[in-house]
This record gives sequence, structure tokens and C-alpha cells, in this order.
Amino acid sequence: MSFRLRLARRDDVDDLIFLRDEAATWLRKKGSDQWAATWRGDADHRRRLLVGVDLRATWLVTLGNHPVATVTVYDEDHPGIWLRAPHGHEPAFYLHRLIVSRQSDDCRGLGGRVLDWAAACAELAGAGWLRVDVWTTNTGLHDYYKGKGFAPAGLIPMDVLDGLGWSDYPSRALFQRKLAPRKDPNFAMDEARAAHLWDGIGFEISKSG
Ligand SMILES: CC(C)(COP(=O)(O)OP(=O)(O)OC[C@H]1O[C@@H](n2cnc3c(N)ncnc32)[C@H](O)[C@@H]1OP(=O)(O)O)[C@@H](O)C(=O)NCCC(=O)NCCS
Repeated sequence: MSFRLRLARRDDVDDLIFLRDEAATWLRKKGSDQWAATWRGDADHRRRLLVGVDLRATWLVTLGNHPVATVTVYDEDHPGIWLRAPHGHEPAFYLHRLIVSRQSDDCRGLGGRVLDWAAACAELAGAGWLRVDVWTTNTGLHDYYKGKGFAPAGLIPMDVLDGLGWSDYPSRALFQRKLAPRKDPNFAMDEARAAHLWDGIGFEISKSG
């Protein structure tokens, strides 16, 4: 059995919510307040998930047709979020809602493959950076991204968040990974090309547990 990647569809939204709830439970057991509640409430969370699906930006990794990971990838972020960060004006891909299921030890490390896949897509699209905003106070998660080649890039400025009406936004810590863009003018982030790139990135199921 191998991990497959495909676009998420509207009828996957309940599975996306399940993955997020499962991660929130795991985080609570770890003593973190990350994702203790959905930002702006459950209905708005579902609405934002549907936006990602409708924009064909949300991806699902499956193992034997069972959803085990997800990420949403955009080629732009909300205005101003990265404006004052180092190289903030340069083309980038932006990650949101990266989650790997806790249900099976087979999935440990799968997040690294998702990050490498997103980096490969971004490079072919000509982007020089892979970026993510991270729960402000969760230094354990900051360490995870540092271990995956991301450098801290400061905090989203409060005046920018105030301007967006997002003063309560809990993920202000910016991290970015430098890429080696090799723009392919024919590259499109369509399902077939993305899945082909995914299949080309090695990953071995852990047998050690
Ligand atoms: C982040 C994530 C996708 C990484 O998946 P992965 O590459 O398969 O790696 P793992 O799940 O094995 O985690 C690697 C390490 O990072 C730690 N870690 C991962 N997410 C963490 C978090 N949110 N807070 C604190 N530590 C975290 C794990 O405990 C693990 O530490 P260990 O090696 O000491 O056991 C996955 O752990 C996850 O879904 N986390 C919860 C949701 C989340 O925080 N997503 C990121 C949003 S920006």
C-alpha cells in the first residue's frame, strides 16, 4: 500500500474536519493550547475549508483510500502578512492547515514528504520560498519547522492584523524555507502533475513504530 495524493473535494470536508479534530485532541494531550478551538468558530472553519477546496488548493494524502494527511497550498497570502518579512516581496508558495493523522505510526514523518512535495511544486512554479504562519506560542512546532529547513521570519505585524480585522489571529509566527526555483513555463498545479511530483518523492513507511 502506498500514500497517494489528490485534490480534496467538497465531500471530503468532513474528513478534513476529522483530521483537524484528531490533531487538536493530540495537541491538548501534549499540553498545547494550539487549535483548542477553531478560530472564528466551527461554521467559519468549514466555510474556509470549502474555499480551499473550491480553489483547488487543498490536497489530501490517502493510504488505501483512507485520508491520512492534508495541506492547503496557495501562491499568495493575504495582503501585508509577509510584507515586512525578509524577502517578503519575492514569489512564494504559502502553506496552511498541514496535518498528519495520528492514527497510525506508518504516517510518522509524512509531513516532511508533504513539505518536500510543496517545495517541488513551488520551485517549478518559479517561487523562491515556501512559507507558513505558525501558532505564535508553540515553540515545539517552531522547532519542527526549523528542523525541516525553515527559518524564522518574525511575527505578522499587529497593525497588519488590525487592518484585516484579525487582531485575535493566533498564528503570527512566520517561517520560510528557501527554495531553488527552476521555473517550468508549462507547469500547472493540476492534479496529474502534482500527483506525479508526489510519486517522485521518496518516503518509507516506518517499521519501527
Ligand atoms: C506538524 C505535523 C504535520 C508534522 O508531521 P510529521 O512530519 O509526520 O512529523 P511528526 O508528527 O512525527 O512530528 C515530528 C515532531 O514534531 C512534534 N510536533 C509536531 N507538531 C507539533 C505541534 N503542533 N506542537 C508541538 N510539537 C509538534 C512531534 O511531537 C514530533 O516530536 P518528536 O519527534 O519529539 O516526537 C504533524 O505533527 C501534525 O499534524 N501536527 C499537528 C497539527 C499541526 O500543528 N500542524 C501544523 C500547522 S502550522
